[in-house]
Amino acid sequence: MTMKKAQKLEIKDLSVTFESEIIKNISLKVEDREIISIIGPSGCGKSTLFNVVSGIIKQNKGLIKINGLEEKKRQGKFGYMFQEPLLFPWLKVLENVMLGFEIKGIEKKQAKIEAVYLLKKFDLFEYANLYPNSLSGGMKQKAALLRTIAFNSDILLLDEPFGLLDAITRSNLHLYLLDIWKKLGLTIIFTTHDIREAIFLSDRVYVLSKKPATVIDCIKINLSRPRKISDQTSKKFVELEKKIISLL
Ligand SMILES: Nc1ncnc2c1ncn2[C@@H]1O[C@H](COP(=O)(O)OP(=O)(O)OP(=O)(O)O)[C@@H](O)[C@H]1O
Ligand SMILES: [Mg+2]
Repeated sequence: MTMKKAQKLEIKDLSVTFESEIIKNISLKVEDREIISIIGPSGCGKSTLFNVVSGIIKQNKGLIKINGLEEKKRQGKFGYMFQEPLLFPWLKVLENVMLGFEIKGIEKKQAKIEAVYLLKKFDLFEYANLYPNSLSGGMKQKAALLRTIAFNSDILLLDEPFGLLDAITRSNLHLYLLDIWKKLGLTIIFTTHDIREAIFLSDRVYVLSKKPATVIDCIKINLSRPRKISDQTSKKFVELEKKIISLL
């Protein structure tokens, strides 16, 4: 008999209510090294979902399992990149990335060594000594992504990581993320409004309803990897796009 491997993350019957109900009985599963996207209308509760999963706010109902075990204290278990740009403007790129290591308790000298390694490995080292204000939007997001990974390179929660970027920069960042994902063996969950982005990056796409958010459907993206930009015009891709549009 083969033992079924536990899911990397499981969310079960999660509900959140503030003044009104925001999230209603959401269940979802994420396998090790999957890329999962969560797509849903603005204000439906995507950021709230990430805030609950990462332990910043509490759910009213439901449980969250990591590697098969219910986890009530979830602070530090995820690399969480917030929807708002989050680099500290008074720190250089290198120092921003170092901070990711330092927050989890690595001492400064070692944090510097590891941050330099990460910046070199993922093509940002030439910007190490610049302040965020002198970077382009795309560069800022790359640096923010590396800082998130410095803090936690196991499961990433990325809240609309490419939302503020133009189409060309966005496309460049998609390939950047896929490269990091593959090299570091990450598990990634991200939110987006962009159906094509969701399809291009993901193994599965969860489609949420408007508030209170429920799961309308989960669409398997049966496109082979590595993904190429040209996949976006394939028949399969367009069919997936039509299917998701019809759900929203
Ligand atoms: N701390 C809070 N207290 C009260 N209401 C909140 C709180 N945080 C979020 N909300 C409400 O919850 C709802 C969902 O917000 P949330 O930011 O999760 O949506 P979203 O799906 O991330 O939207 P967007 O796509 O625009 O980022 C909104 O109506 C918001 O006003
Ligand atoms: Mg949001």
